[in-house]
Amino acid sequence: MISHRLSAAALASIVLFPSLLRAEGAAPVTYNKDIAPIVYQNCAGCHRAGQIGPFALTDYASVKRRAKQMAEVTGDRTMPPWHADPGVVAYSNDRSLRPEQIALFAAWAEAGAPEGDPATAPALPAFPDGWQLGKPDQVATMAEAYTVPAEGKDIYRKFVMPMNLDRDTWVKAVEFRPGDPKVVHHILYYLDTSGKAREMDAKDPEPGFRGMSQSNGDFRYLGGWDVGTQPSELPFGLRWFIPKGSDLVVQIHYHPNGKETKDQSSVAFHYSDQPTARPWSIIPVPPHFGMLQGIDIPAGAKEHIEKASFVVPQDCEAFSVNAHAHYLGKRMEMTATFPDGTTKWMLKTSQWDFKWQEDYAFVEPIKLPKGTRLDVLMSYDNSADNPANPTTPPKRVVWGPSTTDEMGVITLAVMFDTKEQKEATHQALRVFLANQLIDRLLEGEDSTFGMLRGQLGGAGDKSMEAARRPLLALDFNGDAKLSEAERLPAIAFILKGPFIRNLGAIGFD
Ligand code: HEC
Repeated sequence: MISHRLSAAALASIVLFPSLLRAEGAAPVTYNKDIAPIVYQNCAGCHRAGQIGPFALTDYASVKRRAKQMAEVTGDRTMPPWHADPGVVAYSNDRSLRPEQIALFAAWAEAGAPEGDPATAPALPAFPDGWQLGKPDQVATMAEAYTVPAEGKDIYRKFVMPMNLDRDTWVKAVEFRPGDPKVVHHILYYLDTSGKAREMDAKDPEPGFRGMSQSNGDFRYLGGWDVGTQPSELPFGLRWFIPKGSDLVVQIHYHPNGKETKDQSSVAFHYSDQPTARPWSIIPVPPHFGMLQGIDIPAGAKEHIEKASFVVPQDCEAFSVNAHAHYLGKRMEMTATFPDGTTKWMLKTSQWDFKWQEDYAFVEPIKLPKGTRLDVLMSYDNSADNPANPTTPPKRVVWGPSTTDEMGVITLAVMFDTKEQKEATHQALRVFLANQLIDRLLEGEDSTFGMLRGQLGGAGDKSMEAARRPLLALDFNGDAKLSEAERLPAIAFILKGPFIRNLGAIGFD
């Protein structure tokens, strides 16, 4: 794939730091003095035995062999992988290189990749073996391996991993390890205190059980893992709460990849002897992975845009941000417009890459006073020019859970001062979803309604016309739209029913 490209960034580095290339009298760029410290710090974490990098970069010989390719991939910022646009928002876990480091790779390759003085060679850091976050307090593993077939549709399956905790427990970090990383696409964790998950597992003859949102009402959402997620401890003394006797339920999304395989994934827990320092939660915009956003991307569309906004109903502080879409996702952006009218970027990604779903951690928490508006823009490239497009020729794509469907959400992790603020924020997110449900029903688009049918319970048995009729009855001024006031009874009705409650478990509870 890599050809002779000298990217703008590499060129700029050379222009900015010409001394690296041809300074008279300046010490030459060498592996031991200049390159090894960067490679050990910024590359070897992934590029070493047993990690996700396709080859090791842990000694002179192996690094030298790739000197030219490394100059290219650092120059165009493909490596280290980091997809937030440079220079827009400062993140504490930013692993991208500084321009002068990029220039060193270019200069070193140009100079023929000299080794330099072995006396100045840095020692390879002591990398953690096995679990990246060190020895966990508890590891929960799928009781049996699950066989993923070679071909066929994506599979969503839940597995119960009993935790056997005899007391309430606070957890500061969770690390997921896929059994077979080639087929595990993403996972969601739940906690079940009702015993229902075990019952459903017992009824299903195969390992684990099926079933998505309908059963989730009793399950508490704990977080998730995607391809590319790097585990880390919760910041600022925040903790997850695990009630005693809970079972961990892991919903795994498998994507068959042409070869039958077995998966037996595990999850490691790091306990904390302190409770959470503050209540915290997430604000997904739009909620529930954009399920009610009405995402409908025409075949061939080069830049299909989806927008959503949410006004923060309570003071809170944002500490990280994360984006999720599938293969068509391109721009993923969120800004915050504060009550004083100023605007700040939360996330700007011009080249979304499905493989790298990061939690971008802010260097300092960002205060979001009540009334701050979060604006999200997500764009999708459904043309044949998008090399990641899973379908050739492109076809119309709507919201759905498979990797060949689309989704879209940007999620802020936020902390509050009080539980009441957190609950009021959740309630506002439910209202957001109720409004989107009303919008979709009023539009009466077939594709969306087909998707909603399964989720609507009893109401889904009706025709679309029947589901819309009670809404249209609220349209007192007869403009075929529902104003904010006209919507209130419909929102109250929707919030009373099971629909949003069932969804709640996979979003923000
Ligand atoms: C977070 C993990 C990670 C880090 C850090 C990382 N890499 Fe990689 N690297 C990968 C993965 C995974 C691939 C395989 C291609 C892919 O999946 O994008 C890769 C591929 C490569 C390739 C082959 C590119 C190609 O197109 O075939 C080169 C060269 C490379 N990395 C160099 C580096 C250098 C140099 C650094 C440090 C400056 C670095 N990587 C840091 C994970 C990482």
